[in-house]
Amino acid sequence: MPDFSFTVDYQHRIRFTHDAFDSSNLILREVLNVEQANTKVIVLVEDTILAINSDLELQINGYFKKLEDFDYKGCYALKGGEDSKQNFNTLKDAWSIIENQGIDRHSYVVAIGGGAFLDVIGLACATAHRGVRLVRFPTTTLAQDDSGVGVKNAINAFDKKNFLGSFAVPYAVINDFSLLETLPLAERRHGLIEAIKVALVKDADFFNYMTKNAEPLALAQGEVFENTIEKSAILHARHICEGGDAFEQGNSRPLDYGHWAAHKLEQLSDFKLSHAQAVSIGLCLDTLYAVNLGWFNKSQFSTIVQLIKLLDLPVWHPACELVDKESGQLAVVAGLDEFREHLGGELNILLLKGVGIVEEVQQMDTALIAQCLVELKELA
Ligand SMILES: NC(=O)c1ccc[n+]([C@@H]2O[C@H](COP(=O)([O-])OP(=O)(O)OC[C@H]3O[C@@H](n4cnc5c(N)ncnc54)[C@H](O)[C@@H]3O)[C@@H](O)[C@H]2O)c1
Ligand SMILES: [Zn+2]
Repeated sequence: MPDFSFTVDYQHRIRFTHDAFDSSNLILREVLNVEQANTKVIVLVEDTILAINSDLELQINGYFKKLEDFDYKGCYALKGGEDSKQNFNTLKDAWSIIENQGIDRHSYVVAIGGGAFLDVIGLACATAHRGVRLVRFPTTTLAQDDSGVGVKNAINAFDKKNFLGSFAVPYAVINDFSLLETLPLAERRHGLIEAIKVALVKDADFFNYMTKNAEPLALAQGEVFENTIEKSAILHARHICEGGDAFEQGNSRPLDYGHWAAHKLEQLSDFKLSHAQAVSIGLCLDTLYAVNLGWFNKSQFSTIVQLIKLLDLPVWHPACELVDKESGQLAVVAGLDEFREHLGGELNILLLKGVGIVEEVQQMDTALIAQCLVELKELA
């Protein structure tokens, strides 16, 4: 029996801009490849964004109606936020629109929304016709600096985050900084946790840039903010595209630093903790764990905590001290097992020996985790 081997070449097109739907902005037009006249395009937008930004729909309609070669099928508002990942409603709505409007594998779905919305629409696009072209416009800091440039999508099921999903490279990602303007200040700041994460794991210079510019960064607008988003997005995309494991076949997940606890805490808090807030706690937990192992410098840990607090992010939450009735253990510790399952069998937790210096461990000491959580409560 022969074994066949083949590779598929992907392009990951990522752009940064302002006012993407201004008629003079050609970024989107230049990214869309037209293989045949009247290529269909539909735009799916998270409903809250259309409600807040009253001009956006007009702008989008104006932009596409001017484009020759396209058959513009309109702009649709759909529900987003984490709730949209908790059931099948938005997924089904997106499938219906794709089906009703005759979107095929040469058409484009332009999706505009937060990370949760893009996850659901990404899943709809990956599965309708086994994959239609998706252009993502992330509208939160977190979606621009991390999830939007990723190659995954998912909804939650069986009480587990991201249980149902797929790997699917978007046709393009356009990070339009202007779309962040309607986001409340706290949200604009919170998403920067993924930039802190990727800097801690991969790039000491980038981490120093953020700590040196902490005050302007906390304004969550302007040059430092945009530079930080761009650098973070590029570091995430580079790891995915050049790290040798884009579709996560292996056991190593450097971009998931602090996430074993984060995913569990999101669920334990009934999603009162956002992903960004939960990552903030998870990142502090794993970094303090490394401090207590004698691996990571304590004063550098304090610098991280200072930056996190300046961005109004938490280092602790009451969900951290919930106890599982059956096992009598801290409930968050089950996150280790769930992470193991998510990795496909073998547990690998990334810990820091310094900024940008990492080491993987195959187990964590639950008593030390508990001690770290007590220390984090004191810091909160
Ligand atoms: N696919 C991946 O690789 C990946 C990676 C990391 C995180 N994620 C997922 O991303 C999700 C978190 O995304 P998020 O942090 O963007 O949160 P989110 O999508 O839940 O958005 C947060 C809130 O902001 C609102 N909002 C979004 N954009 C807005 C804007 N421009 N103005 C005003 N309000 C706006 C939303 O309606 C929502 O209420 C989680 O579900 C997480 O699992 C996915
Ligand atoms: Zn994350």
